[in-house]
Amino acid sequence: MNFPPIGFGTYQISGEACAASVRTALEVGYRLIDTAALYENEQEVGRAIRESGVPREQIRVTTKIRGRNHGFDEAQEACRDSLRKLGLDYVDLLLIHWPNPQNDRYIDTWEAMVDVKDDGLTAEIGVSNFTPSTLDRIIAATGVTPAVNQVELHPYFQQVELRELHTRLGIHTQSWSPLGRKSDLLSDPVLAAIAAEHGVTTAQVALRWNMQLGNTPIPKSVSPARIAENFDVFGFELNEGDMLELATLERGRLGSLDPETAEVL
Ligand SMILES: NC(=O)c1ccc[n+]([C@@H]2O[C@H](COP(=O)([O-])OP(=O)(O)OC[C@H]3O[C@@H](n4cnc5c(N)ncnc54)[C@H](OP(=O)(O)O)[C@@H]3O)[C@@H](O)[C@H]2O)c1
Repeated sequence: MNFPPIGFGTYQISGEACAASVRTALEVGYRLIDTAALYENEQEVGRAIRESGVPREQIRVTTKIRGRNHGFDEAQEACRDSLRKLGLDYVDLLLIHWPNPQNDRYIDTWEAMVDVKDDGLTAEIGVSNFTPSTLDRIIAATGVTPAVNQVELHPYFQQVELRELHTRLGIHTQSWSPLGRKSDLLSDPVLAAIAAEHGVTTAQVALRWNMQLGNTPIPKSVSPARIAENFDVFGFELNEGDMLELATLERGRLGSLDPETAEVL
């Protein structure tokens, strides 16, 4: 699958605000839209796609199976339910949202997704918030490697080892909270200095850094100006010195949930 270099995130946007943001994103040029059953906005995302006038085949739509729907039959039904809400015949990428290792049903879920893909309901299947051990387990159990692992990834949480594993296994990395959500990442002095040097914003530096590592960031915004700003990242390039400086900013996870222990239903 050809993954666009950047996508649009829709976590914590609902109702008309969600539909309007997705329409703006598609107008600006985004061609990857990220939703999830958990976000409870699949209907609005689907409506915005239909209203946008952009041909369906030009858009990559991701949705995710939530924790409460783990299990073979449950996951298959959840996928069909998401398609009904989206008003689509297929999605382009279906992910397991969180592994929920305590419940230990993610292997059954993965097996269901392999079938759902064979049935043509999704072009690709992948995972989110998977760690080396949970990745190893689903691959060993099924022989099927996820196309994607979508994980928290920004200059404060760089996921160096996990990215190396992804490269070895041929898994594409998608980066959630690429702007560090509501942290102080966007006012970091190192990002600010690099942004000033290139005449861009700190958000654009954070996104460009992710893209130059080969990842697909999926920033979220409800502001038309910021939606456009976040897509305007193709006209400059970070140099080796910038990348080396940004590599020193590691602090650790900003999200409060550790995928090895978190139960997200
Ligand atoms: N798989 C998972 O478990 C998981 C977890 C979290 C997120 N995600 C996905 O990843 C997407 C992005 O992550 P996120 O929503 O957590 O955080 P994010 O995209 O890193 O940050 C979003 C925040 O940054 C602000 N913002 C956006 N553009 C900006 C700019 N140019 N300058 C300054 N502020 C800006 C937004 O405010 P405004 O809206 O006011 O602009 C919002 O408060 C989600 O929407 C979701 O699709 C997936």
